[in-house]
Amino acid sequence: MKIFRDKKTLIDYVERQKEMGKRIGFAPTMGALHQGHLSLYKIANTENDLVISSIFVNPTQFNNPDDLKKYPRDIERDIMLLKNTGIIDAVYLPEVVDLYPDGLKSKSYDFDGLENEMEGKFRPGHFDGVGTVVEELLRQVKPDNAYFGEKDYQQLAIIQKLVDKLQLPVKIHGVAIYREENGLAMSSRNERLNHIQRDAAKVIYETLLKVNDWFHLITVSEINKRVKDIFDDKRGMTLEYFEIADEKTLKETDFFYKDKKYRAFIVVNVGVVRLIDNLHLD
Ligand code: PAF
Repeated sequence: MKIFRDKKTLIDYVERQKEMGKRIGFAPTMGALHQGHLSLYKIANTENDLVISSIFVNPTQFNNPDDLKKYPRDIERDIMLLKNTGIIDAVYLPEVVDLYPDGLKSKSYDFDGLENEMEGKFRPGHFDGVGTVVEELLRQVKPDNAYFGEKDYQQLAIIQKLVDKLQLPVKIHGVAIYREENGLAMSSRNERLNHIQRDAAKVIYETLLKVNDWFHLITVSEINKRVKDIFDDKRGMTLEYFEIADEKTLKETDFFYKDKKYRAFIVVNVGVVRLIDNLHLD
């Protein structure tokens, strides 16, 4: 596995691979790798000649400096893990200057309103930061295919919008959420939960499954009320938001229309750990 620590060596490598006609699959990350990331690599490996990953904890997408400081970083462990997969051809470990040559600031994007829903209300500037770093990474790595987890469904929708608007020549793929045995969506943040919290957090996915059972049988406002009741009863957990939204526009719905697709979105704070999940309603 090749390791590139600066933009120039990465770009030279990509150019050579492109000249040889190789199809590149790319999965950008912020490190603290887990099974969820591995599931992206596995799919990328079946659909491309080369798999490239990147690790960069992107400061501009953190609206809370403390969150940025506490973000888990263990680059040696991550490199070892990537090597051990046996399917990663190269990892890009850029420095700030490689991605932000003019200094650490975000561009300002118009994602047709997707950025103002859900996470956008709670994390101002977050999606401009994600857009800035993902645009730059895609321009440097020039992948044919890029892979993102559906756990951050709004991010995935925004990246698709970015690529459409800028007409970047890459196909974006959403990869199904990888879950722990108890159903908890896999996340680097799960490591910060103690045993009791990790077990209790299974209620998040259980709730989404209940919502799916209730879908079309009761009204949206009744579903919202039942979800709120579930978390009102849970000690040590606070429901930050629950919404059923149109899968395309991400706008919250208060009524189910037959011809539209819906997804339930939830964010719960378990102690100080913010957990996010979603489920397509079917
Ligand atoms: O999902 C992530 O890990 C990050 O938001 C991403 C896409 C790597 C951009 O920093």
